[in-house]
Amino acid sequence: PALSQDEQKAQVGRAALAHVAKGDIVGVGTGSTVNKFIDALATIKEDIRGAVSSSVASTERLRALGIPVFDSNEVEELAVYIDGADEIDGRGYMIKGGGAALTREKIVAAQSRRFICIADASKRVNTLGAFPLPVEVIPMAAQRVIRQFARLGGMAQVREKDGAALVTDNGQHIIDVTGLRITDPLGFESEVNQWPGVVTVGVFAHQRANLCLLGTPSGVQTLRF
Ligand code: A5P
Repeated sequence: PALSQDEQKAQVGRAALAHVAKGDIVGVGTGSTVNKFIDALATIKEDIRGAVSSSVASTERLRALGIPVFDSNEVEELAVYIDGADEIDGRGYMIKGGGAALTREKIVAAQSRRFICIADASKRVNTLGAFPLPVEVIPMAAQRVIRQFARLGGMAQVREKDGAALVTDNGQHIIDVTGLRITDPLGFESEVNQWPGVVTVGVFAHQRANLCLLGTPSGVQTLRF
């Protein structure tokens, strides 16, 4: 029988264990797919030293399962970072931040030698941009950044939660941008990074995936970039 989206996520979460080595401190991302990975990681927790986490939510889940969580400043380099994506293209470039954790995700990805993306089949795209692009901004810059995206043809709005602007783990806001076709992810990321008040743009091109474990209805497919 074909695997459901939830089963695909569970399968890639377990498959990612093959990329964790004995004694590792593992970089851990955020989201529903990573939650499956965290559950799988708990089954081998005696073999690892712990994790560096990319969100309050993942930290809580890791600690609840008895996996020690280190501050990113306590560790120099991580062998591997394992995280989901909202979109991934054929070169390993991604859109991330649907869960609002993009800044810490990019920090932990940058301190890791390899980025293993775990995703269900719905995330694989040819060109990035159909998923609304998350951008973390300093609140006072939000409207100006929204106008800058309008000049690129994007429509942006401040993400809300319970009727008010969502506040990230870092105390900032998220804007979500629709209407973009990101054909040059490296150039796009570099450009938006220059805009005053932008904390992190949800294009992960400089921190692209080295490998993707893609869940499909018939099983896990491995994509190398
Ligand atoms: C979190 O900020 C995102 O970057 C996630 O990696 C992304 O939203 C994927 O989440 P799911 O695994 O829940 O689809």
